Amino acid sequence: MRKSVQKIQNLKNEGKKITVLTAYDYSTAKYVDECDIDIILVGDSLAQVVLGYENTTDVSMKEMQIFVSAVSRGVEKAMVVADMPFMSFQISKEEATKNACKFIKAGANAVKLEGSSPYLLDIIKHLTSIGIPVMGHLGFTPMSINTIGGHKIQGKDSQKTIDILNEAKKLQEAGCFSVVLEMVPKQSSKFIASKLDIPVIGIGAGVEVDGQVLVVDDILGKYDRLKPRFARQYCNLKDIMKDAINAYLNDVRNSNFPNDEESFILEQKEEEALESYR
Ligand code: KIV
Repeated sequence: MRKSVQKIQNLKNEGKKITVLTAYDYSTAKYVDECDIDIILVGDSLAQVVLGYENTTDVSMKEMQIFVSAVSRGVEKAMVVADMPFMSFQISKEEATKNACKFIKAGANAVKLEGSSPYLLDIIKHLTSIGIPVMGHLGFTPMSINTIGGHKIQGKDSQKTIDILNEAKKLQEAGCFSVVLEMVPKQSSKFIASKLDIPVIGIGAGVEVDGQVLVVDDILGKYDRLKPRFARQYCNLKDIMKDAINAYLNDVRNSNFPNDEESFILEQKEEEALESYR
C-alpha cells in the first residue's frame, strides 16, 4: 500500500521530516522505494537528466507518461507524484484534467503543478474535487525560466517572502496537499513553512522546512551538465559507470570476456566431431 496524503500530512504534524527524491526508471524507483522514502517524484527534470534536452519545458506529456508508468511499476510503498509538463495544463481546464487522469491511470498517486495563478487555482480545486491530490511548486519555477531570466533565488526580501507565503496559502486553500519551495533563502522558507498547515518540501530552501527533495541523478553524481549549489552529491556514479565501461572494453579488446562460465559449452564428443570435420 502506497503512502497516502494523510500519512504525508501526519509526518508534518508529528515534526518528522518528509523525504522526497526524483526517479525516472523502473529499477531506480524500486531501489529508492526499498530505501523507505516517503515520496517519489517523476520530475520534468527528466527532460534534462534523462532525455538531454536544454530545458524542462522541452519534455512532452507523451514522453512523461512512459516514465511515470515505469516508475509506478517499481514502487510499492512510496507515494508517486507525476510532474505535469509544460503545456499539459496551461491550455484549458479540460486538457489539464485529461492529462492529470492519464498520469493517475499510469500509476501515479498525485500530480505536481508549478505556479499559483487564478487559472491554476481553479484547476487545482477541480483536480482535488475529483480525487487527484495536487502538490504545488513555488519560488523558482523552472517552467517560467524565460520570464524569470535564469536560475534566480526567489523571496529575497521580506515583502517577496510574504508574497510567496500568500501564493502558498492560496494553493493550500485550493486543496494542494503539499508545496515544493525552490531556491528561497532559508529564513524565508522557515517563515513560510511555519505559517502553512500543509507540508513544505524544500529544494535549495534550507533545512527548516518540512521535507527535502533532490534530483536523484544529482545525489548519485550521474548528471554532469548542471551542479546546483543546493544539491549534495553522495557518490560519483559517473566515474563508477565509466570505470566499469572501460573495464568491459578492455576485457573485450584483450579477449578476457567472455570466459567459460559466461559461454555455452558443447559436449566434448561434439567438439571433437567439429574438429575432425573437413
Ligand atoms: O522536476 C523536478 O525534478 C522537480 C524537483 C526538482 C522539485 O520539480
